Amino acid sequence: MSDKHAIQLTVNGVPYDVTVDQSQNLSGALRNGTGLTGTKEGCDDCECGACMVLLDGSPVNSCSYLAVQAQGRDITTVEGLADGDDLHPLQRNILEHGGVQCGFCTPGMLMSARALLDRNPNPSNEEIRIGLSGNLCRCTGYARILEAVEATAVELG
Ligand code: FES
Ligand code: FES
Repeated sequence: MSDKHAIQLTVNGVPYDVTVDQSQNLSGALRNGTGLTGTKEGCDDCECGACMVLLDGSPVNSCSYLAVQAQGRDITTVEGLADGDDLHPLQRNILEHGGVQCGFCTPGMLMSARALLDRNPNPSNEEIRIGLSGNLCRCTGYARILEAVEATAVELG
């Protein structure tokens, strides 16, 4: 018997018809089923945050979330941050503050930061650290990423 399921995922407001195995994780369904490859797969074990997306506005490690369970939810990926050619202030600030080196962690960082600022528009430095604590970066040492989130909070505040 086939383990394949035809599902619909709503990503950044757009419906995508995707065929997945019952056990397919959401990150793989996004990358292979929708063509949206901004979401990265690092540890595949809920440790690094590279796969972070928003489900109904809340950050979720998509490597550890079943694609079939994401039906009917609003999924936001890094591709949903910019407004056309205009980068989201978080994207612009992380570039301007030098918070991107290899870039592998960046989509997940941005999604966690977006969720943080959505629920707390004026976070303290400590609150930003906690908000990004599920995202690992091997390159930057974090300081410039934290600066970028602080600058965005000031800008949007
Ligand atoms: S790939 Fe999902 S947490 Fe690392
Ligand atoms: S910029 Fe390379 S892992 Fe963060």
